Amino acid sequence: MNNFEWNFTTKLVYGPGRLAELGDIVKPFGKKVMLATYKRDTAFAPLIDKTIAILNANNVEVEVFDAIEPNPRSTTIDRGIELFQKSGCDCIVALGGGSVIDGAKYIAATAFSGGLSWDYVVLGDRKPRAYTGAYPIVAIPTVSAAGSEVNAGGVLTNWETKEKSFSRSEYRIPKVAIIDPEVLATLPLSITKDSCIDIFSHLIERYLSSEDTSEFADRITEGIILTLKDAFYKVIENPKDLETRGTLALCSIFGWQGIQALGRMGSIPMHSIEMPLSAHYDLSHGRGMGIIIPPYLEYFADKLPHRWAKLARRVFDVKEDDDLKAAKMLSVKVIEWFESVGMYLKLSDVKIDSEKFELMANDVMRMFGNSETDRIDSIIPTSVKDMVEIYKMAK
Ligand SMILES: [Fe+2]
Repeated sequence: MNNFEWNFTTKLVYGPGRLAELGDIVKPFGKKVMLATYKRDTAFAPLIDKTIAILNANNVEVEVFDAIEPNPRSTTIDRGIELFQKSGCDCIVALGGGSVIDGAKYIAATAFSGGLSWDYVVLGDRKPRAYTGAYPIVAIPTVSAAGSEVNAGGVLTNWETKEKSFSRSEYRIPKVAIIDPEVLATLPLSITKDSCIDIFSHLIERYLSSEDTSEFADRITEGIILTLKDAFYKVIENPKDLETRGTLALCSIFGWQGIQALGRMGSIPMHSIEMPLSAHYDLSHGRGMGIIIPPYLEYFADKLPHRWAKLARRVFDVKEDDDLKAAKMLSVKVIEWFESVGMYLKLSDVKIDSEKFELMANDVMRMFGNSETDRIDSIIPTSVKDMVEIYKMAK
């Protein structure tokens, strides 16, 4: 077991209908709230209106910023920061998926600390600017995927340079997350399916990142993946089932918040390999992960076979005793599972050809690589050549 420190500072308010409590929840944090959310379209408008009505009914002043797009762009977020400062907001409510919550985090912390949102992201050898604090954040997730509602992370896209990167800051951990299955049940099934793949990607990205250092973390992760698999089938059968929506929310929250990795170190760079697909082609992150995971698991199966084999045996019912053979069966089993939920996709299914494979791999290396070794550091050091091979296998 590696040494660790862990805390969980976000208050979870869970239950169907609990969005109605937003007014009381937000009052201790501010007098004028920015409601940060997606562009108002016909499907999402009723939820935005309902949220504004709840705040108004509780005499909370609201400034609406309904402009955040999936794969949030730094220029959009900078407009949000300006509006937050000009309108004198002192708290932010994020209503949406990981993109909105991440965007709200950059608004809350950058409005407090100064500068532009992109100043704070990790970018190659550049030392990111450090926040000095953040305005309080209340998150209302409409998607169960990234667990952004309870963590310090945040991803941002620079549309001009086609770079997508991240940062982490304890200042940006939401004070409260309202997990309302009635809100989550409004999510269309296609986005729900992308989200389930994203939850899975987080769980395996940490599970496969180290030697056998924490049986506790392994068992927690395996339990969450098994729970996710059951709930994935159930939500396809009945997308309105509130119990299943609640279960998926907890898989998402505890699949990335840290308890599933206590005593384990690091992560493997699967997310990094997906990021250019979103940055260059605006592909949904979950769908991109679904495309990258199978070839990644196949390509690196022989690098850490006992870990691949452990996951294959415990979660995908592989009976093979030989580690290497069992490791190689992991991608096969994952593909079978993805096919059974209609999520086994190739790049050609989303109309991405091989034109930018080299460019994307070099983007990843520039942003996350070690310039001395020309590798991304992890338990499985990853080169540009490795990434290009994985993109080719995903064609
Ligand atoms: Fe993710």
